[in-house]
Amino acid sequence: PLTARINSSDRLEIGGCDVTTLVQQFGSPLYILDEDTLRSACRQYREALQKYYPGESQVLYASKAWSCLAICAIAAQEGLGVDVVSGGELYTALQAGVSPHKLYFHGNNKSLEELKLAINSGCTVVVDNWYELQTLGDNWSSVIGDSESGNDPLSIPHSPIRIMLRLTPGIECHTHEYIRTGHLDSKFGFDPNQLDEVFAFVSQHSALNCVGLHAHIGSQIFEQQPHQDLAGVMVQWLKKASSYGLQIQELNVGGGLGIRYTEADDPPSIEAWVKGVCTAMQEACAAQQIALPKLLCEPGRSLIGSACVTAYTVGSSKTIPGMRTYVAVDGGMSDNPRPITYQSVYRAVVANKMCAPVAQTVTIAGKHCESGDILIKEATLPPSEPGDILVVLATGAYNYSMASNYNRLARPAAVVVKGGEANLILRRETYQDLMRQDCLPARLSSEA
Ligand code: LLP
Repeated sequence: PLTARINSSDRLEIGGCDVTTLVQQFGSPLYILDEDTLRSACRQYREALQKYYPGESQVLYASKAWSCLAICAIAAQEGLGVDVVSGGELYTALQAGVSPHKLYFHGNNKSLEELKLAINSGCTVVVDNWYELQTLGDNWSSVIGDSESGNDPLSIPHSPIRIMLRLTPGIECHTHEYIRTGHLDSKFGFDPNQLDEVFAFVSQHSALNCVGLHAHIGSQIFEQQPHQDLAGVMVQWLKKASSYGLQIQELNVGGGLGIRYTEADDPPSIEAWVKGVCTAMQEACAAQQIALPKLLCEPGRSLIGSACVTAYTVGSSKTIPGMRTYVAVDGGMSDNPRPITYQSVYRAVVANKMCAPVAQTVTIAGKHCESGDILIKEATLPPSEPGDILVVLATGAYNYSMASNYNRLARPAAVVVKGGEANLILRRETYQDLMRQDCLPARLSSEA
């Protein structure tokens, strides 16, 4: 899916830009985002919904996959809304110009400050649990403070708060344990066995305008059946809600479609996935004899994952005879924590040796002081030398967004490429950036 080719110098080009030259220009490591691939994925979701769903629909970008101004702006330009899970992601999306009507605020423990920001900016709050529901339904005016008495600079909302309810569907799927969310003992969402109590509460609280129901079953999923089952379950919930007088107009089936990281991965296409959900939704509505709701989905990984690569510079290597060869690069678990966290498997190429025969299987190590800091256990590559540009593929999702400064490494820069042009979207951190939050109390200063 990348707009990539091998140019006449046998080097990798993405979005019309020579990757080796990009690294010379912008430094290493470097996240390289291919704008056309991201836009194309946005369009595939939107067009498939238009094609297979006769009702209204809206795609939201799950910005936890990678939240920054430029990416939120591209999503918004493509007509997508944005799903945010923290005040920081919400603030970023607002600053990027995303319309609050297309912003949905998730989270299983939103702070009062976050709720105030969400409500005052006019976005929809996806209520996750009883504590939050009661906070918004019963105690809103007391928790937000009395603007008359000047306790709170933010005004009390006059219109009801636009909410959705997140429910745990009890649907299992095959993916890594840490990223499964649909099973009943998940930390997210209301217990579906308490639907009656939840709907009764909402129907009795005029401060709450419940417009929809939400569920998310997990991430990096290749099966289509779980989301189709989910559509059926959600339509039943909707039917039940209507018996409490709740006018639910929106059903959000979450995200979760997987992408191909290795040859062995075989996810359905975006179009096939959307078609499956749309068909299941229509069948369930027909069976229950209810009108089609507005259908929302909120993919993250399948929008941005394949659209980015990380370019590193090769440095030292170590061969342990009879065992393995380590090739070390200038980043690692701080810019891509997924291998050490989820044992995720990635593929790599050498950007400046695209036509050289692959001759060795090596282990790509990061530069962190941690034995587990291995990016790829077995990479089959041309013989590598210091200075080679090693490119790890499909690093758009949950890499930058989960990056850290472990060992006080500065976070890499990111560029967006398109039609031979490269523009910075995230500046590389400097040593000053790393020390930005440091304070040295006078009594600890050696000069004191
Ligand atoms: N909606 C909700 C409520 C979610 O919790 C998530 C992901 C998504 C949408 C987007 O799911 P996607 O389409 O990206 O699968 N850090 C992990 C993934 C965590 C996913 C968390 N929730 C990883 O690197 O694999």
